[in-house]
Amino acid sequence: WGFGSEREVRRVVAGYRERGLPLSVLHLDIDHYDAHRVFTVDRERFPALPGLAKELRDEGVRLVSIVDPAVKAAPGDAVFDAGVALGERGAYVRDARGRVVVGEVWPGACVYPDFTDPVVREWWGSLYEERLAQGFSGLWHDMNEPVSFTAFGDPSLPRSARHVLEGAGGDHREAHNVYGLAMARAGYEGLLRLRPAERPFLFSRSGWAGMQRYGGTWSGDVSTGWPGLRASLSLVLGLGLCGVPYSGPDVGGFDGFPSPELYLRWFQLGAYLPLFRTHSAIDAGRREPWEFGPEVLEHARGALVERDRLHPYFVTLSHVARLSGAPYVRPVWWAAPGDRALRGCEDAFLLGDALLVAPVMESGAERRVVRLPRGRWYDTATGRAYEGPGPVVVDAPLSRIPVLARAGAVIPVRDADGELELEGGAPAPGAVGRRAAVAAWVDAAAEGEADDETDDKAD
Ligand code: GLC
Repeated sequence: WGFGSEREVRRVVAGYRERGLPLSVLHLDIDHYDAHRVFTVDRERFPALPGLAKELRDEGVRLVSIVDPAVKAAPGDAVFDAGVALGERGAYVRDARGRVVVGEVWPGACVYPDFTDPVVREWWGSLYEERLAQGFSGLWHDMNEPVSFTAFGDPSLPRSARHVLEGAGGDHREAHNVYGLAMARAGYEGLLRLRPAERPFLFSRSGWAGMQRYGGTWSGDVSTGWPGLRASLSLVLGLGLCGVPYSGPDVGGFDGFPSPELYLRWFQLGAYLPLFRTHSAIDAGRREPWEFGPEVLEHARGALVERDRLHPYFVTLSHVARLSGAPYVRPVWWAAPGDRALRGCEDAFLLGDALLVAPVMESGAERRVVRLPRGRWYDTATGRAYEGPGPVVVDAPLSRIPVLARAGAVIPVRDADGELELEGGAPAPGAVGRRAAVAAWVDAAAEGEADDETDDKAD
């Protein structure tokens, strides 16, 4: 929250470029809107957004737009008027007496589209044409619980508010939890109609079971602090088990000032989660990797470069999630459901079936215990081989978090020239495994820890 002008966007993009930091997307928050009104752009601060978006896209950086559901209650406003005139009853949620419900969000007095009405969903989806014309590549749905700051003593709509509920009709008690889900459906279906050849990119603060059909989600305003970092991982793991594979936290936390160490450890974790994005409140300081001193910058660069290198693996995992429902991020017991010692493990995770990631989630730690599922695991930084099952102590210097590769696994990565390459670790001795492709950690393992039998199989 704070990329509020073309100048600022250019400054941030240049900051990444000049420091050799990979960057794929910037998310523009409500401060790019005109007076916080959805589907508008502040023309003074963004005089030529489509041109800026194109220029950035040409250098590989896309823009994502926030979209809040609440529409400013302002006769004369094009979106508000179109909603009032929609169909027989208009687009906005009404109370039991038939009056449009007015709440309070960023633009001031606002009304709420009833996404449980298919007519409203279709209308809302068509509004995304304006976002695409501005050059945005994806959408970030927010405030869709839906929020009303103060009006009703409850930070949402009054319980008596009426909803169409797909024709069944009902009040807000029934609609509340599906409001965000139905908004996601409206956005997703709208994007598909507008750009049938492209996969919509959409994620949403609120949702419900089944939201993965339309998009992902994120932590919302996770608190800055070590508990917030730990909650970030629990969130992604839990959502994955609930069928929502794509999520991630506000790296660095939303609402406060992280220490350089906390920021770095959060950044290193985020690099291995599906949605990897730094974000914060407008008054909570900046979250760019160069804001925390040269040492953090150096190590954050390492995490970003590795994320970029693993891009083909992430794409593979997204396909796996779509085809099978298995999330990218899995609890470690996924690899050995019978191993009861792994059941309570909340401080590490499997990324797909090949990598075991062990983030640092406490201050001052430079080593940590990792509970391994059965089998051989290679530390991808040192090449050292560890045998599971059981706990091992692994180095976790400030420069990186431990990532172990399952022996015999093969993963697609992007090499320094952007070419696809397969990388793998030698199968454990005696395992009937695939012959592994060449990999840095295989070479290291062959020189160091691995025994002769492993050497034979490493090529
Ligand atoms: C909400 C969102 C946050 C966003 C802010 C302003 O708090 O959760 O991500 O930055 O609104 O739009």
